[in-house]
Amino acid sequence: MNKMGEIRHFLDLNDIDPDVLKSILKKAHALKAQKYNPPQIFQGLSLAMVFDKRSTRTRMSFEIAMKQLGGHTLVMSMDEMQIAGAESVKDTANVVSRYVDGVMIRMSDDTVLKEFAGHCSIPVINGMTNKTHPCQIMADMLTIEEKLGSIAGRKVAWFGDVNNVSNTFIQAAKIFDFELALSVPLELKPDTLPDHVSYCEDPIEAAKGADVLVTDTWVSMGQEGKAIDKFRHYQVTPALMAKAQDTAIFMHCMPVHKDEEVAQGVLDSTANVIYDEAENRLHAQKAILAWCLEEAGVSVSQSSFNFGNA
Ligand code: CP
Ligand code: NVA
Repeated sequence: MNKMGEIRHFLDLNDIDPDVLKSILKKAHALKAQKYNPPQIFQGLSLAMVFDKRSTRTRMSFEIAMKQLGGHTLVMSMDEMQIAGAESVKDTANVVSRYVDGVMIRMSDDTVLKEFAGHCSIPVINGMTNKTHPCQIMADMLTIEEKLGSIAGRKVAWFGDVNNVSNTFIQAAKIFDFELALSVPLELKPDTLPDHVSYCEDPIEAAKGADVLVTDTWVSMGQEGKAIDKFRHYQVTPALMAKAQDTAIFMHCMPVHKDEEVAQGVLDSTANVIYDEAENRLHAQKAILAWCLEEAGVSVSQSSFNFGNA
């Protein structure tokens, strides 16, 4: 619990002070620099991880983040838990809170995740819902800073579907002060676009002068069978990359569906940074966990990682 008596949940970027998010990014850079000498700040702490969908990166990065920093993990599939039967969200949240120091959940329904967090006395981290994917976008911000030096003032162009990842890029544009050009089929254009976000039906216009081109699957988990023809015009191709800055990078949260949302030629190019982006999930996760756990009623034992100094 922090000084205000609030639990440090990491559920939605819009719920967290932008300065805190920037301080988490700064810690992520510092922890990446200590990749081979990780500070043992999570000794004695446990993180539960609960999934209602598949995962490679989220599961591995959280598990390794906790363990490299001295902590423990417990992974569960939601369908193996009593919550899949008759046990209530409230009882589950209260019981989980008695066993571990934090919980990361990948849960489709954003509202249920927030209800769960409301009953928890430990920090809850959003490991992706159908609406948002905040941990992914923290890793993406880390990657952009690492590759391009800064995020503020950059142009990021998003292509393809509107989904949990694009929704979180929209939030991040204001928080981290970059311009986001959203290039998606007209029928998917959001009704309202916040400051820093513009709609570009034409992908070539969106790519012009961009520093970052980013896309994601056209068929998110749970949408199997969805028609994809309307997205074909929005594939990220070498021709599209050629409209961007010479230094532009290509990003994707993965898993990739090559020759659907991205052409093989882009994946083969030096602009492709997706493996660094995936690695950065680990470093971002460490910093998110450190922030969540720092004042959560347990002792994070290295004062050099006090977020008050961020
Ligand atoms: N990007 C991402 O969240 O990957 P996983 O689904 O493998 O966790
Ligand atoms: N939009 C994708 C992201 C996967 C990491 C999905 O929800 O399946």
